[in-house]
Amino acid sequence: MTGQEPEGAADDCRCVTTEGFQVHEERTDENGSQASGEPAGDLPDPTSFSPTGNRPTHHWKRSTIAEPGLEQRGTVFFAALQMTRMPMILTDPRQDDNPIVFANKAFLDLTGYEESEIVGRNCRFLQGADTDRAAVSDLREAVKHREAISLEILNYKRDGTAFWNAVFIAPVFDDHGDLIYFFASQLDVTRRRSSEQSFRQAQKMEAIGQLTAGLAHDFNNLLQIVTGNIELVLTGDLDDRQRRLLTNAARATDRGTKLTRQLLAFARKTRLEPKRINLNDLIHEFGDLIDNTVGAQIRLVTALERRLPDVQIDPSHLEMALLNVLLNARDAMPDGGTVTIATELWKLNGNAAAHQLPEGDYVVLSISDEGTGMSEDVRRRATEPFFTTKGQDRGTGLGLAMVHGFVQQSLGRLELDSVAGKGTTIRMLFPVAIGEADRFSPPALPSAMRRASAQGTETILLVEDSDDVRALAAEQLSALGYKLVLASSGEEALELWDKQKIDLLFTDIVMPGGMSGLELVEKFVELAPDIPVLMTTGYNEDLVADIPRGTSLDVIGKPYRREELADRVRMALDRRLEGPRTQARNFPHKEG
Ligand SMILES: Cc1cc2nc3c(=O)[nH]c(=O)nc-3n(C[C@H](O)[C@H](O)[C@H](O)COP(=O)(O)O)c2cc1C
Ligand SMILES: Nc1ncnc2c1ncn2[C@@H]1O[C@H](COP(=O)(O)OP(=O)(O)OP(=O)(O)O)[C@@H](O)[C@H]1O
Ligand SMILES: [Mg+2]
Repeated sequence: MTGQEPEGAADDCRCVTTEGFQVHEERTDENGSQASGEPAGDLPDPTSFSPTGNRPTHHWKRSTIAEPGLEQRGTVFFAALQMTRMPMILTDPRQDDNPIVFANKAFLDLTGYEESEIVGRNCRFLQGADTDRAAVSDLREAVKHREAISLEILNYKRDGTAFWNAVFIAPVFDDHGDLIYFFASQLDVTRRRSSEQSFRQAQKMEAIGQLTAGLAHDFNNLLQIVTGNIELVLTGDLDDRQRRLLTNAARATDRGTKLTRQLLAFARKTRLEPKRINLNDLIHEFGDLIDNTVGAQIRLVTALERRLPDVQIDPSHLEMALLNVLLNARDAMPDGGTVTIATELWKLNGNAAAHQLPEGDYVVLSISDEGTGMSEDVRRRATEPFFTTKGQDRGTGLGLAMVHGFVQQSLGRLELDSVAGKGTTIRMLFPVAIGEADRFSPPALPSAMRRASAQGTETILLVEDSDDVRALAAEQLSALGYKLVLASSGEEALELWDKQKIDLLFTDIVMPGGMSGLELVEKFVELAPDIPVLMTTGYNEDLVADIPRGTSLDVIGKPYRREELADRVRMALDRRLEGPRTQARNFPHKEG
């Protein structure tokens, strides 16, 4: 923002005489004295706040008065000045350092000062540590050149509270053309600035989310190929060195898998398996883990509200989130201190909007530390992926990004309160679980996982658009004894399915271009209701978007290990024997 006038008007304003500049408006009072002024019209800086809501045109950006005294206080104009909610002041440029000579009541309300504390002082007392020096210099230039200026500047109230001040300053001349006052109006626009800022931040996060989700998705497909092929080679005859090298490579892909998982969590595209749980129970269960994470130097206090209602969240992701937050607390307290883990029930009614949540009951899990705290700048950016203050080697900056994404995907909200030098409180708000119907029954994975690689001889229709991934899955499945029918698209799969006896449909969900895996499954369920279906995906966007919460679908996330694939295929096939399939019944009905 600048105080520079774009056109000739600026030069006119610098003249002290009235000749040279055009008077557009005149007002005559009952004594015949006149005030005149030049409408703002072309006042630059359209970005600055206009209290009228429109681009300023009529109000004056300089004025000339016939009666310069401040004594007349019996008129309706003086009363209006004291009644308006718009803060206004006058300064006297003929006195040393251009001090305030009049401030209306609204100015005192805005700044918290008494009249006696400010009359006689230059307005710069409103400025402080974080005031933008460039804005101050714009003001200085405008005042020096006797020009009107309108800008937004960070100011401070008497009690130290910072506020954004939309200030408008304009010169007042007497009828000899001598500059006798500066007039200014001020307006607190903090609320607008902060909502603009959070909107911009939300937009930025959304964009980063889309980018990372796309990247992580493609990356998962690549990792699937690398991991799967390494595993296949590892099953063969290798010497020690070859085995060691491949094991190193496998470890690196594991790390890659973890990173992409965190990225997908940030982008709210994780495959969550929510269960109805009590957070207090879960925290007891995590006891050892919590102790080990914070270490002996830190005192741990738990304050768990009794009779806490259940929530519907994925416990393994909550564990990860808690771990990330506790690690941050530990890092923030190198010299020890207390970490408090608390649960509470919050009933959000009128104040729900302030938490950007729908009205209702929420279970709040909060973790407070007495560590270094965060500056406002760090706090604002803490949940951005890759934002870290810990240096390249120590932090990836994905911890809070993961927590944020997980909480949001669980229909809750993450809140960060932090005071630099005092400590930090991280709050996760989760909606209270409603009704028994929501109870989630995940596939009985753990017991099945314990078996040695499950095998079979059935025929699997494998649908996958990526040639490499398809070749790999075919190799893995045929190594387990299965017969395979391969299709590279949903359309092809539908052509193939009744030509041969199929025992299982195994399809990718995201297949750009043609029919998606979900559409294929929907059609397939109608054509062959008795044949089980297993789906796979690099991320869960389609599921998140299309499938109602609580619907149980058989999905295996990429990248998957050979044993996991073996187990999930076997389980899907075996379910066929347990009676009619209940999965995939609840597809949302698509029009047309
Ligand atoms: C009438 C008038 C009102 C002003 N109001 C404010 C204000 O509300 N906030 C502010 O930061 N500066 C305000 N200023 C600007 C400062 O008084 C001062 O001009 C500015 O800080 C640049 O000068 P300096 O570099 O000498 O401080 C106002 C100036 C004038 C003439
Ligand atoms: N409890 C806390 N106290 C002070 N600062 C914190 C706290 N939690 C987070 N931060 C700040 O937020 C930043 C981002 O946190 P985040 O957990 O996302 O990443 P990280 O801890 O730096 O790295 P990573 O968790 O990936 O190892 C941290 O670098 C730190 O500056
Ligand atoms: Mg962290």
